[in-house]
Amino acid sequence: MRESPRSGTLPVMKLQNDTFIRALLREATPYTPTWLMRQAGRYLPEYNQTRARAGNFLALCQNPNLATEVTLQPLARYQLDAAIVFSDILTIPDAMGLGLYFAEGEGPKFERPLREEWEIRDLSAPDPAVHLRYVLDTVRQCRQALAGSVPLIGFSGSPFTLACYMIEGRGSSDFASVKKMLYRRPDLLHKILAVNATAVTDYLNAQIEAGAQAVMIFDTWGGMLSHGAFHEFSLAYTKQIVDRLTRQREGLRVPSIVFTKGGGGWLESIAAIGCDAVGLDWTVDIGAARARVGDRVALQGNLDPAVLLASPQAVQKEALAILKSFGRGSGHVFNLGHGISQHTPPEHVSALIETVRGSSVAYH
Ligand code: CP3
Repeated sequence: MRESPRSGTLPVMKLQNDTFIRALLREATPYTPTWLMRQAGRYLPEYNQTRARAGNFLALCQNPNLATEVTLQPLARYQLDAAIVFSDILTIPDAMGLGLYFAEGEGPKFERPLREEWEIRDLSAPDPAVHLRYVLDTVRQCRQALAGSVPLIGFSGSPFTLACYMIEGRGSSDFASVKKMLYRRPDLLHKILAVNATAVTDYLNAQIEAGAQAVMIFDTWGGMLSHGAFHEFSLAYTKQIVDRLTRQREGLRVPSIVFTKGGGGWLESIAAIGCDAVGLDWTVDIGAARARVGDRVALQGNLDPAVLLASPQAVQKEALAILKSFGRGSGHVFNLGHGISQHTPPEHVSALIETVRGSSVAYH
């Protein structure tokens, strides 16, 4: 193994299972690859044990040994075709100094949300090698531990989704202060988004440099915007990132996935920004989405995560319907339409993975 000062020790080897990367690039695969958003999480008892050892969720994210351990947990149970580095989208605003914390049972909060104009003017993109080093260390450790078995996904929030938490200071059902700023002081929101776009670009490129083999941008809240505002305040900044992403690493393409929850009305414009794949939530019919985007991008999705709460039979029925709707050929990565619920019985996930693996062969 060769030591490189820029990347650390990276095992340069062929992937044993590259179905996920191939599907993102719309190349032929023997079956439809699967991974699940939040596949390492509270529905797994072993995750809860490791989290307890770490003390809390943030401490778990910041401990590369334990973060690597939980990244691998779902792969030990299920035949998944990709790993996703265990972290959170809110690491960036935390690195900007906003003070992320998780109050038990209440979701993420910031000690110092952006309230004053001078705080916004002072905002700058963190250096990932310094302030997000623990994430890059986790990426490197995950790559070592995976040893070429399946690809590793790096990720970030979109500039707009990060701004939602930075302004509101916590989750919200309507992000009213964000929308107020959008209509009252669009200049201030644009300033935050420009800094976030630089921060996300640097962060994703650092993850790629550390070993991430595909990247995903989570635009969880873009779907609450009006048509015009989505294009101006969310998609334009996501495009800036995609334009500046490292395209190739270790001689392989590094595909990008853009997921806008509630973005079903804008699939054509999302597909046009230069990403390799578009993530779909469960409100769209994947076959209709495929007809709309043609062969411009691959599609990822889109089982309603609530189906996993029901029964193995329901899981099987709904998964088969998605495979059938997408139809023959490559360009589909099976996933949920949003993160897995903490109340999911782990054996329902087995039913899902086995159904997709077994029944998708007929479509390839
Ligand atoms: O997919 C994976 O397995 C990778 C890990 C991952 C997490 N968060 C771990 C996590 C990823 C990709 C995320 C992304 C993320 N985080 C998003 C975008 C995707 C989405 O779900 O919309 C958002 C909006 C966040 C912010 C965030 N982090 C929220 C709103 C919460 C609370 C949600 C909840 O279910 O309580 C978190 C915490 C969080 N991030 C957990 C996990 C496993 C649960 C924390 C715990 O263990 O207590």
